[in-house]
Amino acid sequence: MKFGHFDDVNREYVIETPRTPYPWINYLGNTQFFSLISNTAGGYAFYTDARLRRLTRYRYNDVPLDNNGRYFFIKDGDAVWNPGWKPMRVELDSYECRHGFGYTKFSSSKNGLKADTLYMVPNGENAEIQRITLTNTSKAKKDVSLVSYVEWCLYNALDDTTNFQRNFSTGEVEIEGGAIYHKTEYRERRNHFSFYSVNAKPDGFDTDRETFLGLHNNYDSPDTVMAGKSQNSVADGWSPIASHRVNVSLAAGESKTFIFVLGYIEMEEAKKWAGENGCAPASKDLLQTNAKMRVINKEKAIALQKRFETPAQVEAAFEELKKFWDGLLSNFTLKTGDEKLDRMAVWNQYQCIVTYNFARSASYFESGIGRGIGFRDTSQDMLGVVHQIPTRARERLFDVASTQFEDGSAYHQFQPLTKRGNADVGSHFNDDPLWLVLGVGGYVRETGDVDFLKVDVPFDNSKTNKASLFEHLKRSFHYTVTHIGPHGLPLIGRADWNDCLNLNCFSTDPNDSFQTSTNKDGKNAESVMIAQMFVYVAPEYAAMCRKLGHEDEAKWAEAEAKKMADQICKTGWDGEWYIRAYDDFGKKIGSNECEDGKIFIESQGFGSMAQVGADKGFPIKALDSVKKHLDTKYGIVILDPPYKDYHIELGEVSSYPPGYKENAGIFCHNNPWVIIGEVKSGRPAQAWEYYKKIAPAYLEDISEIHRLEPYVYAQMVAGKAARRHGEAKNSWLTGTAAWNFVALSQWISGIRAEYDGLRVEPRLPAHVKNATITRMYRGCKYVIAVENKKPDGNIALTVTSGGVKVDGTLVAAGAKGATVELKAIVG
Ligand code: BGC
Ligand code: NOJ
Repeated sequence: MKFGHFDDVNREYVIETPRTPYPWINYLGNTQFFSLISNTAGGYAFYTDARLRRLTRYRYNDVPLDNNGRYFFIKDGDAVWNPGWKPMRVELDSYECRHGFGYTKFSSSKNGLKADTLYMVPNGENAEIQRITLTNTSKAKKDVSLVSYVEWCLYNALDDTTNFQRNFSTGEVEIEGGAIYHKTEYRERRNHFSFYSVNAKPDGFDTDRETFLGLHNNYDSPDTVMAGKSQNSVADGWSPIASHRVNVSLAAGESKTFIFVLGYIEMEEAKKWAGENGCAPASKDLLQTNAKMRVINKEKAIALQKRFETPAQVEAAFEELKKFWDGLLSNFTLKTGDEKLDRMAVWNQYQCIVTYNFARSASYFESGIGRGIGFRDTSQDMLGVVHQIPTRARERLFDVASTQFEDGSAYHQFQPLTKRGNADVGSHFNDDPLWLVLGVGGYVRETGDVDFLKVDVPFDNSKTNKASLFEHLKRSFHYTVTHIGPHGLPLIGRADWNDCLNLNCFSTDPNDSFQTSTNKDGKNAESVMIAQMFVYVAPEYAAMCRKLGHEDEAKWAEAEAKKMADQICKTGWDGEWYIRAYDDFGKKIGSNECEDGKIFIESQGFGSMAQVGADKGFPIKALDSVKKHLDTKYGIVILDPPYKDYHIELGEVSSYPPGYKENAGIFCHNNPWVIIGEVKSGRPAQAWEYYKKIAPAYLEDISEIHRLEPYVYAQMVAGKAARRHGEAKNSWLTGTAAWNFVALSQWISGIRAEYDGLRVEPRLPAHVKNATITRMYRGCKYVIAVENKKPDGNIALTVTSGGVKVDGTLVAAGAKGATVELKAIVG
């Protein structure tokens, strides 16, 4: 069942009912100011850090679903309704929500009144702009009132939801002109405040939640809205809100537009207060919590309000936002005639950028107060965005590398605002270092910016202890070699990619965190996956060594990779597939000898991507085993059979019920490793079968089963052992975005940035006979016409115009600004 449709021309997903199987959300903002917005206008805004600078409140895991957002209430006679349906949930005559790239629009109507709303965060502005147009489509004059509503968060989101003994006494506001200012704690350490303004003289306002709602009411019947009268309340502690009332009179056929701005401002210390140090005085009509207090200097806030005073200004910013996205998306385009596939090429790139912006902080499954930015996660995320935003990827890679320790290990996470490693979680996830090599390699291949490797990067954020980025990569790579266990394989530490394979945890205490408790010395448990990653990453590392003239190091790395591959063939191969790990007792995990967890996807994916034991036919055998044991109609499960009991020697993986999460759920993150492995093993048809099983655009028709947004990937889909097989959880912020884009753009479309040129090896599905792929690479535009006769056949690549050298399937980098046309005949 579908709940909407794709509008491919406008690049929007159009949701046709507010009753989606779960809130279907979108993200606004690109650099510092961010908002989440659902298809019922739920969600919240924050500045840079969803935990430390939360601007508006959201109630996670509340009933009914999706509580709190930026709401408009419309009172038209006795009819009171919301353009986004919530919170009142009054039946609308029409409803439509369009999630576009960086904006969301609602169009709804009731009783001859139409409301068109646009929400966006313009690039470079610390504000969410809301434009609402009311149109009287009836034959008679209407007098209606429009009431806005947001609830302020007291900035630290964790404290805000826990520390009520303090917080109920601290809330302070000011009201001046059309703007309501949230100034809690501004008078001491904070140099920031927020505001919510309207470009009209309000006919009333409220800033105290209790007065606005009525003490015992829900959001579906606020006293002031129902009564048609605001109380002009001035908040004093408790829960400050911002609500404007605008009375609107509309002749038949008439429209009126209002612009609301939810803004965030930081002030330098000397300029904090009105009337001091040369700052303009406060106006006479100002109201504030306590009349004796100093008043905010609003110069910057007013300037921001003035930039969005007229519909023309908003329209111009909206056009600019669309152009910005046109630009980003023009770096890779795919036209195959399969509309679902072409959509994926667009939406997958959007999800990659959102994942870059938000890391794992704020979604409808991540509260924004828990996790910082992951070392491993971020390094992988870069693979999905580097062709679109290379400069920002470089900055992020620098930040990631700055949290590495001298010995090559790293903090597992860091906080975005401080950029410092998170000591609570600490280190010793032994895969972490290798992901950095992969992320930096992806950047250098894309840009050719070898100089980045020479830049000094701190260890553990130190001001003095630094080394070149290349030295960081060297320590990453060597870390694996110097941490080898009894079977000649890398020690796993707290976990590798699979956070839940906690082989040194040995916890019997339900109060322990699986991932940070370590009760073993870590000298025994080993990871086959890290071994395979090492083999996979070695050519990347060796290539970077050579770019800097370190031939000996390159040769050494290659020799080590060969040794590691041989070792995997000896102690990491089970006969039909690659083993996953060895536990602390030296027992195999992911082997036919095991009762449960006989086979895991990770080692089949990385083993086949790295082509470990190819001369013995191991990759193909392993992939055949994936098909036989792990494939389901909704994707490939992470392991089989699921663990039925808790195993102290395995940790969190065995704590999940069968079929969920790491215990045999379908991890959409590592399905693409198998897809890539299949392409590398010469079987693009099988790769395609797997691709389409988890690609959201192909799941649109089963939205009632899948439940989450059909335009973005979710991290996990319940596996075959679960009763709710096929149901997704944790959409948006997941490494799934980057890896599926790698699979689609680099292996199915076959366009790969290499150190010395662009590789063109399309392995498109058989039903695509002709395709056009465009790709910007180092400033040159490549237009590739693909004729797909036999997807696994030979590839003949020729230049049709633009005159660059082609060597087999490798095209040299063309001149900046030039266009090169190529023809690829497959089969
Ligand atoms: C989840 C993992 C996740 C980790 C993050 C675990 O409980 O199962 O998927 O990566 O927590 O901390
Ligand atoms: C989610 C984490 O963010 C990621 O780092 C991890 O690899 C997967 N879960 C699998 O456990």
